[in-house]
Amino acid sequence: MAFTDRYGLTVTTDSSVAFERFQDGMDHLLAYGPEGETRLAQAVEADPGLAVAHTGRALLALVAGDAAAARAAMARARETVGGASRRERQHVEALDAFVGGESARGFALADEHVKDFPRDAVLVNQVSSAIALAGAADREEYRVAFMERLAPAYGDDWWYQSALAFTYHEVDRFDESRRLSEASLQKYPRNAHAAHNLAHISLETLDCEAGAAFLDEWMAGYDRRASFHCHMAWHQAMFALHAGRHAHAMEIFEREILPSSNPRSAMTDGTALLWRLKLDAEGGALPWRALAGERRPELPAVAVGIAEVGHSPGGLMREEIGAGSIFGNHRVWPAVVPEPAQPAEL
Ligand SMILES: [Fe+2]
Repeated sequence: MAFTDRYGLTVTTDSSVAFERFQDGMDHLLAYGPEGETRLAQAVEADPGLAVAHTGRALLALVAGDAAAARAAMARARETVGGASRRERQHVEALDAFVGGESARGFALADEHVKDFPRDAVLVNQVSSAIALAGAADREEYRVAFMERLAPAYGDDWWYQSALAFTYHEVDRFDESRRLSEASLQKYPRNAHAAHNLAHISLETLDCEAGAAFLDEWMAGYDRRASFHCHMAWHQAMFALHAGRHAHAMEIFEREILPSSNPRSAMTDGTALLWRLKLDAEGGALPWRALAGERRPELPAVAVGIAEVGHSPGGLMREEIGAGSIFGNHRVWPAVVPEPAQPAEL
C-alpha cells in the first residue's frame, strides 16, 4: 500500500499512522523544527519498514554530528527499501552515497533523480547543503543554479522559498532573499530556515538593530530541542557582539550554546563565538575548555572541517562550517554551472 505526501510523492507503507508521523517529521526536518527525530522515530515504530523515515533519521543524525547513528539509520533504509517505489529506492541510494562519503556518486545520482522527481524536497535540501559544504570556490553559484532550475516544480512552497532564499543571500542577492523568506514565514511561521535567512541578511547588510529585534522575538517561540536552536542563538550573539554587548553574548554562550542538544553545533558555533570575542580582546580568559571533548565525549565521532571562513561586507566573519569527514572538501560536481530552466518566481 502507498500514500502520497504533500509533494505528491509516493510513500510506501501499510500504516496510515506511520505515514502521518513521517509527513510531520519531514516538515520538521525541512523547517529545522524540534520534532523531526521524534516524529520519524515514531513513524518507524509504527512501520519498521518505512525506508524514507530511516533516511530522514540519518540526515538528522548528520546535523547533530552523530556519524555512527547516521550510518546505522542508512543501513536500515537500505535493508527496508527493496519493496518500495522507484522514487524511494533512488532517494535512499543517493542519500546513502552522501552519508557514506561518496559525494561525487551522490551528486550524480541526485542530478538524475531530480529530473524525474524534482519535488523530492528532503533530497534536494540535502544536496543543497552538500554543495555548500563541498568547499569549491564556485559552490554558491552552482547552488543557486541547482535550486533555480527546480523552481517550476515548487511554485510558492514554503520550504522551497526558504531554501532558494538561502542560496540568494549567499551570493548577496539580499532583496530577493528577504522577499522569499518573508513569504515563506507567512505560510509557515515556525520555519527556522526562513528566520535564519533574515538573520543573515540583517547581519550582512549591517541592519543589526532591526535584525536583533526580529530574531529575539522569533526565538522566544523556538523550542530548545531543535537541532538548529544553537546556531540561531549564535546569530543572536552576533547581533549582541555588533552592539558591543559582550557580556550578553557570553550569556548566550553559557545558556544556549554550551548546553545545546546538538554537540556538533555547540562546537562549531561555540568556537566561532569565542574566536570573535578573542579578536575583540575583551574579557580575559575565555571558556575554550568547556567546549572540549572531556565534557562532550561524543564529539570525536565526527571530524569537522572548515568549509569557509571569509568576511562579509560588514567585516564580520561568516560561520559556515561543515562536516568535512562526511561530505568531503573537494569539488565533486561538474565545473560548468548549468543554466536554470527558467527564472525562479519570487
Ligand atoms: Fe547562519
